[in-house]
Amino acid sequence: MFPNQVVDSFRGLKTPFYYYDLDVLKSTLSEIKKHGLKRGYHIHYALKANHQLHVLEIIKEAGLGADCVSGGEINRALEAGFEASQIAFAGVGKSDDEILVALENDIFCFNCESPQELEVINSLAGKMGTKARIALRLNPNVNADTHHYITTGLNENKFGINEEDLDSVLNQLPELSNLELIGIHFHIGSQIEKLTPFEQLCEKANQLNNYIESKGYELTVINVGGGFGINYHHPNENSIPDFDGFFELFDQHINLKPHQKLHFELGRSVIGQSGSLITKVLYTKEGRTKNFAVVDAGMTELIRPALYQALHQIDVLTSELPPKKYDVVGPICESSDTFRKDIEIPEVRRGDIVAIRSCGAYGEVMKSTYNLRPQIASVFSDDLG
Ligand code: LLP
Repeated sequence: MFPNQVVDSFRGLKTPFYYYDLDVLKSTLSEIKKHGLKRGYHIHYALKANHQLHVLEIIKEAGLGADCVSGGEINRALEAGFEASQIAFAGVGKSDDEILVALENDIFCFNCESPQELEVINSLAGKMGTKARIALRLNPNVNADTHHYITTGLNENKFGINEEDLDSVLNQLPELSNLELIGIHFHIGSQIEKLTPFEQLCEKANQLNNYIESKGYELTVINVGGGFGINYHHPNENSIPDFDGFFELFDQHINLKPHQKLHFELGRSVIGQSGSLITKVLYTKEGRTKNFAVVDAGMTELIRPALYQALHQIDVLTSELPPKKYDVVGPICESSDTFRKDIEIPEVRRGDIVAIRSCGAYGEVMKSTYNLRPQIASVFSDDLG
């Protein structure tokens, strides 16, 4: 990922910055095509993971659609060249303005999460003299077995319509004449490392699909969301997730009727391994119990370790000294501003360049200006020449 000439180019750049290896992205997309698109699946890329235009254009070119969660994301997807007919709009709290953006552009489908939301979309569509295609986001009560902050498919979570409310929603639908029910949608969580939760999701989706169709609805869209995890421990050895195994599982377990298509909303697994946060060592501090390497990126640039206790591999790109144990920390005045504790890396000195790996998804998009930190650059491998 970091041949010498890449590291040499980094030396001339102001740190910190996000670096995207587009070869990794393109190889990942080839696997998605080979195992997902070739099976006839519709794959919407979840823009929330990363909304860099350059990245989006490549993803669009590979034949994926878009999954958006805000008006801003819908506009960005259109700007990147996604057809409105490829855009799904999800989110538990869509504002009226955002719904209008989606209606004006006649997007593919709204994934709807509550009876009240259905009424609001119906009324706004009525005022515009149009009809909105919708899928019901159902909460399958399946445990994704991931961090509790990114678990979304349990009854206790705010997302989706619970099974016990489904009948009343189905009874409500005939009165909402500006809505056209075209599908069902699920999303049980993110960074799901085992396939078992997806198998349980398939079982639930099959039951609910049969149930709703037995009520006379024709569902053309079965959308199972995203959530497929990446390997944060070994980003080099596992730079591309096992898409064959993932899609094969759905092949085996989901029961599609002839008029139905399977849809996915993948974010992290598409872009996660392509990105790294490149940062420089500002200071080293030798403590009585700990050595600290203070780098110039902080939780403002990458919040995942502070927020989810997430592990990101750290590669030192410019030192070949013998290993030493460090806490690698940022400059922000909070102790949660720690990237790794007690990690053995080659001994570092002020000015050494370090790559924090697997940051392509939910890295740059979650950055903040806390402490009035400046904006940072995004560098793409094809910028380096
Ligand atoms: N569809 C829906 C409805 C979602 O809520 C999400 C992610 C996705 C698709 C894409 O999931 P993916 O394939 O990327 O797992 N900031 C957190 C992750 C939050 C995920 C939110 N929803 C993190 O850094 O781990």
